Amino acid sequence: MIVGVPREIKPGEQRVALTPGGAAALAEAGHRVLIERGAGAGSGLRDDEYAAVGATLVTVQEVWARAELVLKVKEPIPPEYERIRPGQVLFTYLHLAPAPELAEALRRSNVTAIAYETVERPDGSLPLLTPMSEVAGRLAVQEGAFYLGKAHGGRGILLSGVPGVPRGNVVIIGAGTVGVNAAKTAVGLGADVSILDVNLDRLRAVDDLFAGQVVTLFSTSYNIAQVLQRADLLIGAVLIAGARAPVLVTEAMVGRMKEGAVIVDVAVDQGGCIATIRPTTLLEPVYRVGGVVHYGVANMPALVPRTSTFALTNATLPYALQLANKGLATAVRENPALAKGVNVCRGKFVHPVVAEALGEAAAPLAACVA
Ligand SMILES: NC(=O)c1ccc[n+]([C@@H]2O[C@H](COP(=O)([O-])OP(=O)(O)OC[C@H]3O[C@@H](n4cnc5c(N)ncnc54)[C@H](O)[C@@H]3O)[C@@H](O)[C@H]2O)c1
Repeated sequence: MIVGVPREIKPGEQRVALTPGGAAALAEAGHRVLIERGAGAGSGLRDDEYAAVGATLVTVQEVWARAELVLKVKEPIPPEYERIRPGQVLFTYLHLAPAPELAEALRRSNVTAIAYETVERPDGSLPLLTPMSEVAGRLAVQEGAFYLGKAHGGRGILLSGVPGVPRGNVVIIGAGTVGVNAAKTAVGLGADVSILDVNLDRLRAVDDLFAGQVVTLFSTSYNIAQVLQRADLLIGAVLIAGARAPVLVTEAMVGRMKEGAVIVDVAVDQGGCIATIRPTTLLEPVYRVGGVVHYGVANMPALVPRTSTFALTNATLPYALQLANKGLATAVRENPALAKGVNVCRGKFVHPVVAEALGEAAAPLAACVA
């Protein structure tokens, strides 16, 4: 199969959908890999690294004109719509439900579009979303520690403390992928860490994982109000799949936090779980409410595109290989997780949620890939 990787052109996006290691794996399996020149530059990956593993460096026109399978990071944006060819398979983050214009463009182009974010294992886990939550969780503490610096607007404390001076206090709301990864980094820095969740199984897992180094608390507004009074760094990490994040920290609670404390609400991409958070960008990540520094960056992995690119390719490569080796129909038939990723099949909406959001009945996937 001919597999193509264009450079990402969405403003600010520095990731690329395939590392040279991924290109090597596809080439070893007998596929032809076309990489747009400069596609890896934002992630520090040079053209010659791709060429060395047998990939061909081409123009953007050639990628789209020749590739049967196109690997991307972000959804296509209008300048890319006209490049999509009928019959092509597109594998990327799509977030189609709130994007009717993009959905219509995909329908018109008669493409098959598989969304990373809806690839779902039978246990409900989302293997192609997880790596970005791992990045964001770890980064939340790193960024929070930075903004706790006095010159950066914070309280002027070192999270680890030093002998004779207590460690900083980190409160994490939500013990899922973001929360546990934040806890790992905070514990690694030597902070005093508490984590709250409504799912006792998640709290049991945290208790086992950290062997008592992290305080676990059932998430109620009473408990949240209590722990926030001590918090130097608060991390929002809740998710109710598909829904707006519940607002768990009220304006009054923020008002009672310490002067110079920092809030990093990772859940801001789902509306945020802190009443006073609003989305910010990497160019202007923070603002203050009262004395509290607020960090609301909705695309945190973009700060570390190199790490994020490797993390993403590690997760997507097995699926990309299946698609290339077996072809769409067999790959989807044999792998139910991948089948759940198919949003649009040959121009028809097949994912129930996407179809519903667009006011249509979903076409059966089986009929489309038969
Ligand atoms: N800002 C970014 O750049 C960025 C990057 C990656 C992920 N995210 C977002 O981070 C959020 C968390 O993602 P995740 O992968 O960790 O999700 P996850 O499903 O793994 O974990 C969410 C956790 O929240 C818990 N929760 C639900 N209601 C709660 C409540 N009332 N109190 C406490 N905990 C509660 C759940 O039980 C679950 O353990 C999502 O909104 C995700 O989109 C943002």
